[in-house]
Amino acid sequence: MSHIRGRFHKDADKSAAEYTASIHFDWRLYPYDIAGSIVHARMLAKQGVISEKEAEIIIDGLTSIRAEIEQGELDFKPELEDIHMNIEVRLIEKVGEVGGKLHTARSRNDQVALDLRLFAKEAVSVTLVRLRGFQRALVSLAEANKSVVMPGYTHLQSAQPVLLAHHLLAYVRMFQRDIDRFSDCLKRTDVMPLGSGALAGVSYNIDREFLARELGFSQISQNSIDAVSDRDFVVEYEAAASLCMVHLSRLAEEIILWSSAEFNFIELDEAYTTGSSIMPQKKNPDVAELVRGKVGRVYGRLIALLTTLKGLPLAYNRDMQEDKEGFFDTVDTLLSTLEVFTGMVKTLKVNPENIERAAKQGYILATDLADYLVNKGEPFRTAHDIVARLVSYAMEKGKSFGQLSLDEYKGFSPLFGEDVYSITVESSLAARDVVGGTAPKQVEQALASAKKRLRMV
Ligand code: ARG
Repeated sequence: MSHIRGRFHKDADKSAAEYTASIHFDWRLYPYDIAGSIVHARMLAKQGVISEKEAEIIIDGLTSIRAEIEQGELDFKPELEDIHMNIEVRLIEKVGEVGGKLHTARSRNDQVALDLRLFAKEAVSVTLVRLRGFQRALVSLAEANKSVVMPGYTHLQSAQPVLLAHHLLAYVRMFQRDIDRFSDCLKRTDVMPLGSGALAGVSYNIDREFLARELGFSQISQNSIDAVSDRDFVVEYEAAASLCMVHLSRLAEEIILWSSAEFNFIELDEAYTTGSSIMPQKKNPDVAELVRGKVGRVYGRLIALLTTLKGLPLAYNRDMQEDKEGFFDTVDTLLSTLEVFTGMVKTLKVNPENIERAAKQGYILATDLADYLVNKGEPFRTAHDIVARLVSYAMEKGKSFGQLSLDEYKGFSPLFGEDVYSITVESSLAARDVVGGTAPKQVEQALASAKKRLRMV
């Protein structure tokens, strides 16, 4: 028999009760629910709404319920719907009728909003710690391979030489924007909703500032109707998580490519790969593939929540109970992804010779040849055209730029001189000496500032 069916004459249909129950997933909110209730009871006593003695009994009861849950001793009952009712009913069972005073000046609508915000705040802070740890792993890898030159790609075609460190620092920038997004969403999550009641506010003399302070919130909500119906903070976390997963999946894809026999730029530690059941030569990058694969569920959850919230009339509607599973799954997926990916990056081996060989192959210095002609007075567009013809000539002859004679060069432009042979991968890198460019000097500075920001020095 449910404890919230006072005006009804019959029990809920069994399938309806199962359909509406959320305890099988919202039990995870118990630490926040109990923490919120303890502070609420203290506030009620402080304000004289209940007596100090009553508050003490309630708080002791809640503390022992927390221990019961932690020890797996409390059997949650689906007929009690959710974590809030399971705890409250257990409290009344343990301490008697006085337990029923806990819910004074409160509704499950502001209670669930509080619990979810407490959960979200913790999720954001763990996410930020993991993101910084991941950035540190990338910076260390960049630092350890500071002088390795790789082919930079556009359209996955070898384009211009870049430092591997520069490439890795591009990811550090992406994850910095992710950190900024999560930190920003924390500002709007950090709002205490208790006191909103079911929707209209409560009629008791409560102290909302006290609740906020004791529960670690920096603000209290300013509109009770909004406070019980707002799930923007969950959407924001899921949106930030989706973009972060996109970034992770791009690196995962590169790791998959780089560890293939065709590239052989890196070698993944065995601990992060699996073998094939029939092809003994294989070492599959399953962790990286799953990082790429799990993006789908993370943005699936975002779209699901946006769709659930769309068109909902104010204030609370039961539809909103659908916010939790997706949110929990998003947090779990992102945090485990960051953890395993950090380990994979920390243990991978770079094959500098293979990377540098690839950086020197083909006509990767074509842009530099065009720049050379520009420096001698040729307009860039015609310089581009001259080098394009030179490349197709060299390809036909099966020669690299270095193997062409000066006469062959001069056949394309009289501006070519002996110094054309001093164009190398190294000179190409050094020439890109702009802020944000791949010149070793610039990358050195970028590395130093990343290390400083991440407190690695
Ligand atoms: N289990 C509910 C949820 O997650 C808690 C709030 C229930 N409120 C209500 N009026 N039925 O949203």
